Amino acid sequence: MRATYERAEQIVSRLTTDEKIRLVSGKDAWTTEALDEHGVPSIMLTDGPHGVRKQTASTDHLGINESVPATCFPPAVTLGSTWDPALIEEVGSALGRESRANDVSVLLGPGLNIKRHPAGGRNFEYFSEDPFVSGKMAAALVRGIQSQGVGACLKHYAANNQEFFRMSCDSVVDDRTLNELYLTGFEIAVKESDPWTVMCSYNKINGEHADINRDLLTDKLRDDWGFDGLVMSDWFAVSDRALGICAGLDLEMPGSGGTWDAQVKDAHAKGLLTTAELDLAVTRVIDLALRVSEADGTSQFDPATHHELARRAAAAGTVLLTNDGILPLERTGSIAVIGAFAKKPRYQGAGSSLVNPTQVDTFLSALRAAVGDAAVVHYAPGYDATTGETEEALLDEVRDAARKADVVIVLAGLPQSYESEGFDRPHLRLPDGHTAVIAAALDVNDRTVVALQNGSPVELPWADRPAAIVEAYLGGQASGSALADVLLGDATPGGRLAESFPISAADLPADRDFARHPKQVEYREGLFVGYRYHDTAGIPARFPFGHGLTYTAFDYSGLSVRKSGEGYTVTVTVTNAGPRAGSDVVQVYVRDPECAAYRPAKELKGFAKVHLEPGTSEKVTLKLDRRAFSVWDVRSQEWRVEPGTFEILVGASSTDIRARRTIKVEFGEAVSPAHGPAAFVANDNEFRLMLGREIPEAQGTLPYHRDSTVADLKETAAGRVVAGMMLQQAKKAFDTSEADATTLAMFDAATREAPLRMVAMGSSGKLTLAGLDRLIRTLNLTSSKAWRARS
Ligand code: BGC
Repeated sequence: MRATYERAEQIVSRLTTDEKIRLVSGKDAWTTEALDEHGVPSIMLTDGPHGVRKQTASTDHLGINESVPATCFPPAVTLGSTWDPALIEEVGSALGRESRANDVSVLLGPGLNIKRHPAGGRNFEYFSEDPFVSGKMAAALVRGIQSQGVGACLKHYAANNQEFFRMSCDSVVDDRTLNELYLTGFEIAVKESDPWTVMCSYNKINGEHADINRDLLTDKLRDDWGFDGLVMSDWFAVSDRALGICAGLDLEMPGSGGTWDAQVKDAHAKGLLTTAELDLAVTRVIDLALRVSEADGTSQFDPATHHELARRAAAAGTVLLTNDGILPLERTGSIAVIGAFAKKPRYQGAGSSLVNPTQVDTFLSALRAAVGDAAVVHYAPGYDATTGETEEALLDEVRDAARKADVVIVLAGLPQSYESEGFDRPHLRLPDGHTAVIAAALDVNDRTVVALQNGSPVELPWADRPAAIVEAYLGGQASGSALADVLLGDATPGGRLAESFPISAADLPADRDFARHPKQVEYREGLFVGYRYHDTAGIPARFPFGHGLTYTAFDYSGLSVRKSGEGYTVTVTVTNAGPRAGSDVVQVYVRDPECAAYRPAKELKGFAKVHLEPGTSEKVTLKLDRRAFSVWDVRSQEWRVEPGTFEILVGASSTDIRARRTIKVEFGEAVSPAHGPAAFVANDNEFRLMLGREIPEAQGTLPYHRDSTVADLKETAAGRVVAGMMLQQAKKAFDTSEADATTLAMFDAATREAPLRMVAMGSSGKLTLAGLDRLIRTLNLTSSKAWRARS
């Protein structure tokens, strides 16, 4: 046992119940309570994940108020596209150093929720649609952060895959899908990086809030996976503190001014919450405080070096989607740079992860500096950077500039207001203004390259027109120079898509029920998310999972698949057969052509990134363990392998399979039959079978309860009065007078969707739970009459 844990236990044995109750809730927005007389320090936890967001004066958890300057590394979408755990670990360690320099003990990241639907508002903060990639990348970031003695935090656990009513919506998902898709990434990260903390999500999972979900917080996380750190709540996610402690939620964050103290005390007095249960939570809080206070690490760093690392990471996550040979660019002639993002880059997402960068490189300056006198660079903004809108005069300028140039580079993508924590995207289209600018350039010059800055997939119906398309994603503060590096060939476009780009959102099975009902989201597509859907259904993505071109050419040869214990070793030789240095990502998929349980056409089970000079080769060895062949067997509640034929597919994307071997797996046992959605979206009968129970009916609005939202209040006359008052309070608490459109939209969603218990928690003790319960009773008494009056 850890020495700090043992000491924590000794300290707990000397505490009074009141002291214990104090410790299991935070002190304020970002710190924990101290007990100086017992040697328990207060520690600071801040966002995260791709930079340190330590707020200076006023605090909030929505990214509204200012924070200290810190390196803004590329967000997870871009880090995920690097497929390079070693590089991500380097970024993690830089994050650890900056955290330490700012006295931050726990950095709230990585986020590793699965991108169930590309319109998820927070997808830029997550790595992938695939749990294997998500888990490996998250593990790397955690190892890096913690190498500096700073705790990392896996979030948001679990099945939080949309923003719409994220604080109370119920994710109805069958057990197999939950385990195979939505929990596996967390499991990998826990087992491979030993994170010091985990954050539970806001939502419900199959009817139970994440904060009181013992199955997830204790049985899976600790008993099955071996997690031995601390679980904290997402900010104000607590739905029942006493139950949460029993379930394994150790720390309530932020402090809610003692909102739950009386409830915990009462439950303890009545024996509903045992001393042993309370002590366990307190021990873990103290253990974390001692652990981070005593851990070794360095707070020394050079901001310029971190900026260079951010630049390298951005280039490594940049995905070359198409290229007719125009890239890398020649440094001669005249280049037209079009698009306001060239001067005002889109480089990170909005919300709690918003970092105040130490500097920001713009593409226009970086390109001009790189080409010097060798080429002339003209610029036309084309559209408004904030709104994405254009007008005829701007389009005329675009055509003029494009016509005269030898090559045109259009920067397009999503303005900040299009994607943010707090709300999902209503569609996957680019702003009309951006589309018009791209078309205007293409109409007059075929030698047009489109570079995209956005945090999640967009529909690209014109994809076959440009000479090249580069997905630069959100590149962090060095995005501008990294893009210039890639376009000029000073860096290799190292990225591969860690998510599919659908032709249209309407193609996707998850689209039917994504962000539609405020109370419930049904995961009727089961395992058919991303490439698992496209490749099984034969509905191609515009750009498939794993895709990314290079400036050189890689050959695969000598594939061998050998049995080793209860698993296999895959070896393949990768050769750089082209003219330039470059990096490649070897991807290994497993296909199970016949199984009692339904299976997607293929699933990623291994990958390796290699960097090769022209003419050189590397022998890549990847292990496929038992788990690589398993399904989650719902009946026996364990991972099982059905013996028989499997295919091992090695390729450069989920659809570019270069070599395959068929093997006969002899280990394993019978797998219980399990049916999925025959046509990719389960009908009622199929969904019932997948769930193993009746499909729950989505909750109605009345009667009101603690989990009702402010939006629910608006359904009744009396409720509307209360909602109005609550809104006024929220506006007083958060100064949004200078907020931009994105922040206002997020603020609006957060206040509308807030459950009433959250309003109480955020009221600094003004609205107690008892007061809230009285209010709810009154509203319910009046509501039936009000309800009639309304209709
Ligand atoms: C977000 C978390 C974040 C926390 C603190 C929440 O709203 O969901 O990801 O760490 O706020 O800012």
